Amino acid sequence: MSSPTQHSAWQALAQHQQEMASVKMTELFAEDATRAESFKASAAGWTLDYSKNRANADTMKWLLQLVEQAGMKSAITGMFQGDHINNTEDRSVLHVALRASKAQDSLLVDGVNVLDEVRQTLAQMEQFVEQLHSGTWQGHSGKKITDVVSIGIGGSYLGPKVVAEALTPYKKDDIKVHFVANIDGSDITEKLKLLNAETTVFIVSSKSFGTLETLYNANAARAWCIAEGVPEADIKKHFAAVSSNVEKAVKFGMAEENIFPMWDWVGGRYSLWSAIGLPIAVAVGMDNFYELLDGAYAMDEHFKTAPFAQNLPVIMGALGVWYSNFHNAQTHALIPYDHYLRAMPAHIQQLDMESNGKANLVDGSGVATDTGPIIWGGAGTNGQHAYHQLLHQGTRLVPVDFIAPLKTHNPVADHHAQLFANCLSQSQALMVGKSLAQAEKELRDAGASEAQVAAIAPHKVIPGNRPSNTLLTEQLTPFSTGSLIALYEHRTFVQGTIWGINSFDQWGVELGKVLGTDVYQRLVTDTDNSQLDASTQALIAAFKDAQ
Ligand code: F6P
Repeated sequence: MSSPTQHSAWQALAQHQQEMASVKMTELFAEDATRAESFKASAAGWTLDYSKNRANADTMKWLLQLVEQAGMKSAITGMFQGDHINNTEDRSVLHVALRASKAQDSLLVDGVNVLDEVRQTLAQMEQFVEQLHSGTWQGHSGKKITDVVSIGIGGSYLGPKVVAEALTPYKKDDIKVHFVANIDGSDITEKLKLLNAETTVFIVSSKSFGTLETLYNANAARAWCIAEGVPEADIKKHFAAVSSNVEKAVKFGMAEENIFPMWDWVGGRYSLWSAIGLPIAVAVGMDNFYELLDGAYAMDEHFKTAPFAQNLPVIMGALGVWYSNFHNAQTHALIPYDHYLRAMPAHIQQLDMESNGKANLVDGSGVATDTGPIIWGGAGTNGQHAYHQLLHQGTRLVPVDFIAPLKTHNPVADHHAQLFANCLSQSQALMVGKSLAQAEKELRDAGASEAQVAAIAPHKVIPGNRPSNTLLTEQLTPFSTGSLIALYEHRTFVQGTIWGINSFDQWGVELGKVLGTDVYQRLVTDTDNSQLDASTQALIAAFKDAQ
């Protein structure tokens, strides 16, 4: 893969950006009565309105050419057919296989039909979920399980947690699902306070089964079970594991029959569709888990087959590159106007930033362009009373994705219409802004003196012309949740492909882990720290003094 700057469309876009610099989106709407319709695309239960972008037909033409020149078609084909597109780890990238249609019966990866393994695992999950809910699976004292605690971190935590939360209206009443991730003992301590060991099952989710936080928390959970009276011999009635490293899981003390497989060809941040999603399946039942997979599959098919001009992940990915690389946008905000999606920005943050936070092209040479932006966000309307001020009047350009269901699961008086109105009015205000003349008029109309008008009006100017996408769906369901997350997975891949980077490794997180082990040894033993920098020496000393 070559540097994107070598594509003729990249150079055309750089020039086109100059032409667009003074163009207002409001002018684009005034010039084109069909804009709202023509800058719209739909797939898998979601409609994307991308008309409030600093883009005209030429912009889209050049962006789509860039997508073509980046080799998107063959990149998509390569991913779906199991090529080793994760080149630094020499692995296929096949989260799409986890949600493949039942009509597909084979997908060979290095000679193995991975769909057989996927389906066997789904059957194993079905059995586990059924046993828990029916009460066939019992704790050591013969009681039905009432609580399941998922222990995992990163991709083995965020996806399952965010989806389980998104699907709250679909939750089964008989079992509560909890999540523990942080190595901070306060996390597990607070969760354990809510639980009775007799009726609790822990699912230890770790692809590698080597992640410090997860192993510590799993050990703490085990120790708690023993302290609460679970006999050693019955520990297996309270633990299950999901891992691609069965050997390590067994060594840890997991009963082999309670271990669900994972595979190297599924990246952690793309793994919620595998047995890593077991906490979701327990929370909402297997039928809803299958619906979630169906939603993701529908988005996969759309991504694979729709022309790029109507392809949601392609359009969103290309527009993101437009702002990151041609408008110097440093961040990208996700603002769901749905309480159940409030944690979604955290999952997409990991998905995108761990995937595209890279500085090398696939061939190892350094990139010549910016790559992944900082992803952040939170639920509307809460954010309106916090960071939206910066979106409207700050000096930085922040492209926003507004995400909203048309119908609510919880009709309370007129709340939903108010919520939706706020979503629409935010994208409107970002685009339209407020001119100096408008601000002055407002002040005069309110009876301000000319001196007050001169002093205050500039502060009330809102520049506008700030871009956003709006993603709408009928209602948040397992299907639309699945397709939404798959949309962002593919958007991430589209951008990584344009930038020419490998979106599927994560070497950057390793250094912190290695140094963490060294510092830990220094905290708990008497080690000569004099060769460390003075700051780290003093911080280590502060910790030791406090113990
Ligand atoms: O933070 C690095 C990382 O490897 C993530 O990519 C991964 O999702 C997380 O740690 C947890 O890894 P594991 O599932 O192997 O415990």
